[in-house]
Amino acid sequence: MYDWLNALPKAELHLHLEGSLEPELLFALAERNGIALPWPDVDSLRSAYAFNNLQEFLDLYYRGADVLRTEQDFYDLTWAYLQKCKAQNVIHTEPFFDPQTHTDRGIPFEVVLTGISQALKDGRERLGISSGLILSFLRHLSEEEAQKTLDQALVYRNAFIAVGLDSSEKGHPPSKFQRVFDRARAEGFLTVAHAGEEGPPAYIWEALDLLKVSRIDHGVRAAEDPRLLDRLIEEQIPLTVCPLSNVKLCVFEDMSRHNILELLEMGVKVTVNSDDPAYFGGYVTENFAALHESLGMSQDQARRLAQNSLDARLV
Ligand code: HPA
Ligand code: ZN
Repeated sequence: MYDWLNALPKAELHLHLEGSLEPELLFALAERNGIALPWPDVDSLRSAYAFNNLQEFLDLYYRGADVLRTEQDFYDLTWAYLQKCKAQNVIHTEPFFDPQTHTDRGIPFEVVLTGISQALKDGRERLGISSGLILSFLRHLSEEEAQKTLDQALVYRNAFIAVGLDSSEKGHPPSKFQRVFDRARAEGFLTVAHAGEEGPPAYIWEALDLLKVSRIDHGVRAAEDPRLLDRLIEEQIPLTVCPLSNVKLCVFEDMSRHNILELLEMGVKVTVNSDDPAYFGGYVTENFAALHESLGMSQDQARRLAQNSLDARLV
């Protein structure tokens, strides 16, 4: 039905690998690892995917990630995501992973990274999908914990292209991580950060001015600040927007209220991404399709959004 959207070559620039863990794989990994789950079956887990805000989602997302234990688990997770990319003509992807979600449970950093990196390598060689991995710090944890994670990452510095910032936004401004990001940049990493999803436009200013990010993840609340919009347009700073996520987490009341096409027409470099597709109801094509159905996105707009994603690649 959406062959024309599937056929567009696109890049995905905002995808949490842990958020691509489909309920079926979650149950299979629980079984493989001998983990008891609080849900009797896949359907009851799926029916728990109703959220009033970011935190309600995160609580379930971290709970789900607990089934990921071995290098093979991280490989299988990443490989399943890459198969979706192949099916939807996502020719390049820059996924996030959250090492602290795993190291805090006693899973070695190396186990996580090796599984993911091997799958990304196979994706390049066997599926023709280029990629660059982004290490994301959990902003609800301390600066010191982020510094320790950066120390671990530096041992494998060639495995990443950038560092990012995710998890609970409100009360955890980008400024909290200025020194971590300074060090990451000094070590040669590019930077990105979630900002302006639930947090105010001031967090977007901080991400730009203090963390010196190459892109803003989400950023839809920039619309509340005309001076910020001018800057985003002037400097052509990409926003990695995630429409289905924004509706699922009540950032917008309904898809018909989403502002992505208004931002596009103002000249903001917006892109379409899936964020946590297993939890929010779809991958990149489903996000494009929702914009077509609810906002009347035209073929020309879809082409410009897809081109923006290719232009906004870090590598
Ligand atoms: N926002 C913040 N943190 C996250 C998200 C998100 O949309 N998805 C996974 N971690
Ligand atoms: Zn995200």
